[in-house]
Amino acid sequence: MDNPVINAILTRRSIRKFQNQPLEGQVLDAVLEAGTWAPTGRGAQSPVIIAVQNPEDRRAVQELNCQARGGSGDPYYGAPAILLVLADPSVHTCVEDGACVLDTMMLAAHALGAAACWIHGEHEMFQLPEGKALLKKWGLPENLRGVGSLAIGYAEGPAPEPRPRKEGYVLRV
Ligand SMILES: Cc1cc2nc3c(=O)[nH]c(=O)nc-3n(C[C@H](O)[C@H](O)[C@H](O)COP(=O)(O)O)c2cc1C
Repeated sequence: MDNPVINAILTRRSIRKFQNQPLEGQVLDAVLEAGTWAPTGRGAQSPVIIAVQNPEDRRAVQELNCQARGGSGDPYYGAPAILLVLADPSVHTCVEDGACVLDTMMLAAHALGAAACWIHGEHEMFQLPEGKALLKKWGLPENLRGVGSLAIGYAEGPAPEPRPRKEGYVLRV
């Protein structure tokens, strides 16, 4: 079916190589606004989105991800911005809410000509004292539940070919 939303869903890919160019302000603003319109359980709006762009905080987040996951290098693939999504743990749908925000922002980024990749590890990162210290620095509650993040920027090179969809993905009864 030829429809711009369906097309965006079908053509979005996880991008792991980024141009050395910041996101245009209008694009970042639109992606962040789209995230705030994602559905949340009971409309509680439990998530918080932190757009990390300044080099000092970006490096701190990169190091925190490596520390939490035992990795090295840059798990955010050199992207010019990182969008962290954490959520209020007192809301029982907080993880699902955060996942909706992340997916909505990925699609919005793709629809606007930008590119993103979901990066895991935020749950573990923000349980560490160094993660809690960052939350404190940003004026956020230290008990927020990390859900996930996006590395976001403009793609360098073509998008990868997707894998075919698995047999039996959909059952109609
Ligand atoms: C919950 C979740 C966690 C993910 N974590 C990572 C990650 O840490 N690093 C990474 O490179 N990609 C990560 N991805 C991206 C997936 O690898 C990617 O979505 C998958 O390979 C399918 O590719 P596509 O998004 O291009 O369709 C994650 C995706 C999801 C939904």
